[in-house]
Amino acid sequence: MIETINLTKRYGELVALNNLNLTINDGDCFGFIGPNGAGKTTTIKILATLLKPSSGQANIGGLTIGYQNRQIRPLIGYVPDFMGAYEDMVVTEYLEFFAAAYGIHGSQRRKVVADVLELTDLTYKATAEVNSLSRGMQQRLSVARVLLHDPKVLLMDEPASGLDPRARIEMRELLKELRRMGKTILISSHILPELAELCNVVGIIERGQLLFNGSVEEILKRAKMGHVIHVGVTDRVDDAGKLLAKMPGVKKVTVAADDPTVSNGKGGKVIHLQFDDASGQVFTDIPNVLVNNGFRVTKFTEEPVNLETAFMRLTKGLVQ
Ligand SMILES: Nc1ncnc2c1ncn2[C@@H]1O[C@H](COP(=O)(O)OP(=O)(O)O)[C@@H](O)[C@H]1O
Ligand SMILES: [Mg+2]
Repeated sequence: MIETINLTKRYGELVALNNLNLTINDGDCFGFIGPNGAGKTTTIKILATLLKPSSGQANIGGLTIGYQNRQIRPLIGYVPDFMGAYEDMVVTEYLEFFAAAYGIHGSQRRKVVADVLELTDLTYKATAEVNSLSRGMQQRLSVARVLLHDPKVLLMDEPASGLDPRARIEMRELLKELRRMGKTILISSHILPELAELCNVVGIIERGQLLFNGSVEEILKRAKMGHVIHVGVTDRVDDAGKLLAKMPGVKKVTVAADDPTVSNGKGGKVIHLQFDDASGQVFTDIPNVLVNNGFRVTKFTEEPVNLETAFMRLTKGLVQ
């Protein structure tokens, strides 16, 4: 549905997008993740036909941006990072105005406006002024606006930024609903966990280059360099640590205070074993080695890889 081929954008000397190659299939929810300045807005604006690429190509529904913009525009709904003017209008007027711009008239228009208000949970604000709405409601109104012409593709630039936790959850629920409706969604964020639950595919962009493109599971796997296993023994923790340090594949051993939330508040110490890679063979030998050397094992778990950490590892130190 969406495809970019060596898409490049320069602003003078600055290369904001550097040969970006993306493929987003029909019905995908693609999470476009990267720190500020990575090139997310630039990419989205090009796809929204608002900005010309310096080189390379972008296609939506088999049509090429810059050549077939007129045919592309009805297919897409673009939610910019900030809402534009028109804020002294009443919610219904605002939507009617845009519906008219899309050539929707008469009773059809009233129906469409009522439908999008319902979908975005704004029916009770139909007669409120746009500028009286909270940021969360304004963001949902922005989404309502781009749904008027029932586009197949939604391009959303950080729709959840600046929202409080409740508004974020409401936005997420709305996006899930749009997915269920079969929309193809590209949504950007600088926070990976925010999109992990919602999207089936993610791309991590940094300094205009795609660092990673794949599923959330793949990201976690990738970021798992330095796999950590937690091992607990009843006593002689330091000796057990020294013994395990000699095992193949073990990169680093630290003896740390156990996390009381994990060990039922008992406290105590636990050994953290960091591995070079995820070769299963090594892990499974650990309890045996300990038992054969007279230790009694109380704990043997893998440290969960946190999405935040994964993101930091993948983009470390590259912020422009
Ligand atoms: N109109 C512009 N003129 C010059 N530089 C720009 C312009 N828009 C964006 N940039 C630069 O391009 C890079 C990418 O910006 P942007 O696409 O807005 O990133 P993001 O949305 O990921 O934060 C940044 O370094 C930014 O400063
Ligand atoms: Mg941006």
